Amino acid sequence: MWDKKDLLNISDFDRKDLLEIFELARKLEGRNFDILRGKILATAFFEPSTRTRLSFQTAMLRLGGTTISFEKRMSSMEKGESEEDTLLILDQYADIIVIRHKEDFSVIRFAEILKHPVINAGDGKREHPTQTILDLYTIWKEFGKIDGLKILVSGDLKYGRTVHSLMLALKNFSDVKTYGIYVGNLKMPEEFKVVEYQEFSYEDGVSDILNKIRPDVLYVTRVQKERIEQGEFVEYKITQSQIDILPENSIVMHPLPRTTELPIENFGKHQRMFEQAKNGVFIRMAILLMMFNKQNLI
Ligand code: NCD
Repeated sequence: MWDKKDLLNISDFDRKDLLEIFELARKLEGRNFDILRGKILATAFFEPSTRTRLSFQTAMLRLGGTTISFEKRMSSMEKGESEEDTLLILDQYADIIVIRHKEDFSVIRFAEILKHPVINAGDGKREHPTQTILDLYTIWKEFGKIDGLKILVSGDLKYGRTVHSLMLALKNFSDVKTYGIYVGNLKMPEEFKVVEYQEFSYEDGVSDILNKIRPDVLYVTRVQKERIEQGEFVEYKITQSQIDILPENSIVMHPLPRTTELPIENFGKHQRMFEQAKNGVFIRMAILLMMFNKQNLI
């Protein structure tokens, strides 16, 4: 069982850890508990969030705990207080702290000065480990396995932290083939190519690529407008007729928020993005139980 103080990197999880979390999450689905009564979870998001923050809060409440939330605009950071001091204050109040920040490796740095456990809810373009665990859980529930699948990621492969963590995690599974469709020059950085990987440009034509690969999973991401450099922005779109090319049992995932890349009409039988968001609560419940060492009570 995974037993680190802080949850910072997806590579800290091996295959057995991930499968244990999936099994635990499955037992938690749709249930409420009193196990974390008296415990407080703090969220400190220095970047915007809807799902990650609210699903951690929901998970904590469903386990019987409570939450506090730091809002930068209403805080003493407006008076010049540093991020470190702000987090050290949350460390005096809460039992566990969930942090999102725009700089790569920032959350690792913060965890070193905080005495309570820290969860990385996204550090810059680097990683978003809990998103990956819920993504893998969604895939595992769908196919009953992850081994042997063909997974195609598309969009901003350079700055998208969700695809980075996903790629790293897939090395725990055998015979997984991964593919990328990048837009503009937003290619997958070398350090995340740890499993068999083949890359295509959006300009090669999405239909041709889908016909050739016939992926089990199409994982769509938005262009990270807040991170790209001047001249890197590109509009791209996966259309309904392209989705219709996908094999019967394949699924379309998106970490959300989606912007223009996956239009509203793509609500067909392949769509799993809202399922992912729902699974995020169960996975985060499982993670919280493990971090408080209460998983054996289930
Ligand atoms: C993602 C993120 O923040 O990295 N969102 C999420 O947590 N579900 C994806 C994104 O912002 O594009």
